[in-house]
Amino acid sequence: AGSGKFFVGGNWKCNGTKDSISKLVSDLNSAKLESDVDVVVAPPFLYIDQVKSSLTDRIEISGQNCWTGKGGAFTGEISVEQLKDVGCKWVILGHSERRHVIGENDEFIGKKAAYALSQNVGVIACIGELLEEREAGKTFDVCFKQLKDFADALLSWDDVVIAYEPVWAIGTGKVASPEQAQEVHAAVRDWLSKNVSAEVASKARIIYGGSVNGGNSSDLAKKEDIDGFLVGGASLKGPEFATIINSVT
Ligand code: G3P
Repeated sequence: AGSGKFFVGGNWKCNGTKDSISKLVSDLNSAKLESDVDVVVAPPFLYIDQVKSSLTDRIEISGQNCWTGKGGAFTGEISVEQLKDVGCKWVILGHSERRHVIGENDEFIGKKAAYALSQNVGVIACIGELLEEREAGKTFDVCFKQLKDFADALLSWDDVVIAYEPVWAIGTGKVASPEQAQEVHAAVRDWLSKNVSAEVASKARIIYGGSVNGGNSSDLAKKEDIDGFLVGGASLKGPEFATIINSVT
């Protein structure tokens, strides 16, 4: 892990029912968690209120998405103000499922990120290449382009956590090796130092996402530039998510 405080997010995606979420919350409430780790969970919007009212304050809450500005006549959207109203401190933006399944583009994502930060909601900014892009040797180009689009939209990186999620590793059980992840994380930090500032580069938390589980997290966490994780499937199991949180080194 790097110099910033370790950060572990649980992205529950479009999973759960009132019952399964109540069980997950009670498992998280009884888990012993290392104190020196920021822990955040992102439930589906519908269940945020249930989670906020039952989950320990030790764990912060994130939205999985937000609208680009103030609320109003935007059917189906959720505003940053509404996320704040129900207790969210964070929002995940640029997730590969929103980029590649739903079709969000960099400009739209950048607008959301800028607006969330303007309202003091932290952004978990996701980047990552597709398998064919990796195979074509374009991993850095793709990640740097996505970073640049965030950088162009953002006035500050203070409340931003960067999540590197190689698309081929998401939900596939094919985790990046610690070396593969470290190589990209180091390149991201280097990009930040050259294109934003040395200070932002050294403070930035760059977390890894893609098939992280209780068995592979501690080897990944040992790498110098891996400052935490964004966990999908394994975050739906309380004890395993706790193991991942506690793999901080
Ligand atoms: O945002 C987390 C994510 O995309 C990784 O999902 O299920 O591979 O851990 P998963």
